[in-house]
Amino acid sequence: MSPSGMLKLCILMASFILEASAACNFYRDVKINFGDGRAKIDKSGQLLTLSLDKLSGSGFESEYEYIFGRFDMQIRLVPGNSAGTVTTFFLSSQGERHDEIDFEFLGNASGQPYTLHTNVYAQGKGNREQQFRLWFDPTAAFHTYSIVWNPRRIIFLVDGSPIRVFNNDEGAGIPFPKNQPMKVYCSLWNADDWATQGGRIKTDWTLAPFLASYRNFNPDACVWSASTGSSCASRSPDSINTQAWQTQGLDAKGRNRMRWVQSKFMIYDYCNDSTRFNGRFPAECRRSRFL
Ligand SMILES: *[C@@H]1O[C@H](CO)[C@@H](O)[C@H](O)[C@H]1NC(C)=O
Ligand SMILES: *[C@@H]1O[C@H](CO)[C@@H](O)[C@H](O)[C@H]1NC(C)=O
Repeated sequence: MSPSGMLKLCILMASFILEASAACNFYRDVKINFGDGRAKIDKSGQLLTLSLDKLSGSGFESEYEYIFGRFDMQIRLVPGNSAGTVTTFFLSSQGERHDEIDFEFLGNASGQPYTLHTNVYAQGKGNREQQFRLWFDPTAAFHTYSIVWNPRRIIFLVDGSPIRVFNNDEGAGIPFPKNQPMKVYCSLWNADDWATQGGRIKTDWTLAPFLASYRNFNPDACVWSASTGSSCASRSPDSINTQAWQTQGLDAKGRNRMRWVQSKFMIYDYCNDSTRFNGRFPAECRRSRFL
């Protein structure tokens, strides 16, 4: 091989190595924020395992703060009897009037289904719960959970299927998260006072430690820095960045898919809970759920 051919091959190989390590490296992209050694990153940096026992759960947060983006995470939930455990993947800003976009997975007794709990907080106010069953066993394999957050809407997706949309209706006086940068947080913790069947089923500590696994964290997002503001260019290095999320909405196919999920798998919708709000639903409930 000629020297220039050799050089090309080297460059090609180097870029392959970069690609392979690119998608996600937990050592680089997150920091463990609680759990005293219970959260573990494997040698390759590709797999992060959270653990929960009677003394403590564990968790991690993204290295960066973001202002808008698409955040994908693959999670395998606690198998078997996971009653009382809550596994999370969410975005949150800091402070009293914080914004937050939540995926929370409420465990259950063996053979009983998980509940996927979602919520959106804007300027400190949440109370926008929607809950779902999943159409697969979330403990048997990894599945991809995604949050799309752009100035017009928030979309929750499960394996690419939209399950929930929260639109920016600021024009109607409804606050929307858009001025506060958020970090990605994930955790595994105990909430057996309320999580499973309303708190009636407690965690069986003889089964501890409980484990949930994370991989392929992909923030395709704009990184925020206090000194320079938002930078969509200096995002987490070499993450797969398409920026397609910036204007992402639902097309006809997406709307149909979301209707299918909501009609078959939604088990709670705050906009359908008339006793809770005494007939005076939050303003966004009166507006179209779609688009
Ligand atoms: C657990 O299973 C029961 C019975 O199937 C179900 O009513 C409940 O919604 C499930 N999830 C949680 C978190 O309790
Ligand atoms: C909506 O409300 C009706 C009547 O209370 C109830 O039967 C149904 O399960 C609710 N659906 C959801 C998704 O909350």
